[in-house]
Amino acid sequence: MKIAVFASGTGSNFAAILESIKSKKINNVEVVLLVSDRPEALAVRTAINESIPVFSFTAKDYPNKQAYEEEILEKLTQLEVDFIVLAGYMRLLGHVLLHVYDRKIINVHPSLLPAFAGKDAIGQAIDYGVKVTGVTVHFVDEGMDTGPIIDQRAVTIDSVETRETLIKKIQEQEHKLLPEVIQRLANMEAAE
Ligand code: GRF
Repeated sequence: MKIAVFASGTGSNFAAILESIKSKKINNVEVVLLVSDRPEALAVRTAINESIPVFSFTAKDYPNKQAYEEEILEKLTQLEVDFIVLAGYMRLLGHVLLHVYDRKIINVHPSLLPAFAGKDAIGQAIDYGVKVTGVTVHFVDEGMDTGPIIDQRAVTIDSVETRETLIKKIQEQEHKLLPEVIQRLANMEAAE
């Protein structure tokens, strides 16, 4: 299964996917493209270091979302991408990609959805005072973190928890769960 990863920032989830492939924790999965709306993102540097093709763009250089998504779609089509993985991609997808990749786009989010959708889910959980939060991998639709849930992992928030320790616990779960879900989807794709 050929996948494209979309990332706007650090790309630790992107790196975790690459590591899972290298160490053969997941099989029959190939990352053929990294898409980023931030050409300076660390994720872009990781892709270059790993010789993975990059398509990076600056949204304000385009008249609208449709225009840059059409360009992304052209790359995805050229590279015969089967699946899209959003890993810290900070933009809502538009109809161009959602239509062609219907039920073939997943996202990882740092909370137990539907709780704490949107930005700074970890900060939202801390501010609310919940004792359990977690990680969700879900299919992407036109909403903000709203598509059907594929899998979740819970993470406890201890009395001594700080934002930093919670981020670390959540990332550990993300870095395991996201590659696991990708493997399951690849197995389903192979069985089709
Ligand atoms: C992750 O917490 C993910 O759940 C959210 O954005 C963050 C991306 O982190 N959607 P990284 O860039 O993969 O390190």
